[in-house]
Amino acid sequence: MIAPILRDLSALRTQTAAWRKAGESIGVVPTMGALHQGHLSLARAARATCDRVIITIFVNPKQFNNPDDLKNYPRTEEDDARKLESIGVDLVYAPDADQIYPDGFATNVSVSGLTDMLCGASRPGHFDGVATVVSKLFLQTSADQAFFGEKDYQQLQIVRRMARDLDIPITVVGCPTIREEDGLAMSSRNLLLSDRSRTKAPIFAEVMNDVREQLINGAAMSDIQDAAKERILAGGYNEIDYFELRDGTALSLLDRPKSGARLFGAAWLAGVRLIDNIAI
Ligand code: PAF
Repeated sequence: MIAPILRDLSALRTQTAAWRKAGESIGVVPTMGALHQGHLSLARAARATCDRVIITIFVNPKQFNNPDDLKNYPRTEEDDARKLESIGVDLVYAPDADQIYPDGFATNVSVSGLTDMLCGASRPGHFDGVATVVSKLFLQTSADQAFFGEKDYQQLQIVRRMARDLDIPITVVGCPTIREEDGLAMSSRNLLLSDRSRTKAPIFAEVMNDVREQLINGAAMSDIQDAAKERILAGGYNEIDYFELRDGTALSLLDRPKSGARLFGAAWLAGVRLIDNIAI
């Protein structure tokens, strides 16, 4: 069954109040649409543990620091609704912009520290936009659990910290990255790659896996980092924003793996910025 699409907050609140009255738990999967198997895996995880499942679709202008990036972001709402059909999602909340940012909206949610590095360093203001919209979506849906992909690992950590710091009564659940057969992490941005770029894209994940092996076998990140970046660039990528080993919670830089460490990368391929991370 195609889930109903609600666009205004009062309709959403009427529905969630009825669910709450019936003692039902609510899971939310916040998205910006252009749904792929990664999002669908989050919806399935929500379906497996919550009585009711809400998917939100909102291309959040506050988290884009590049107007072209916002303009080009894929918007595929009808397709998205069809993809959710078989999962049994209860509703899609695709709010009109004024339901999130009414006239005179003046509040900014900013998580300090965790937002300074990695994507935060190359996309100033991005994570304030994420934290602001996600805190609103948590409060608007009054969900018990929220499901996020580990592909956006820094985002996951920031959202967790935001919910904890603001006492929002929600459990933030991280779910594994879903990959294409050739290893490329699934992302809505992959739709923006030309066929030619798409064939070059998997070298990024390939190098990450090789670096993981080298780290596990005793190499220091500082000894292998430059060669890894060179390989990604030689494979057709144009620029690398970062390629780093970090702690998985505080996200502090590491030179050698320790428990919970992750390898993080962000690189540009023909005008498309791709990110990935793996546990070491
Ligand atoms: O990961 C995303 O798609 C977005 O950053 C999110 C969490 C939906 C907030 O707009």
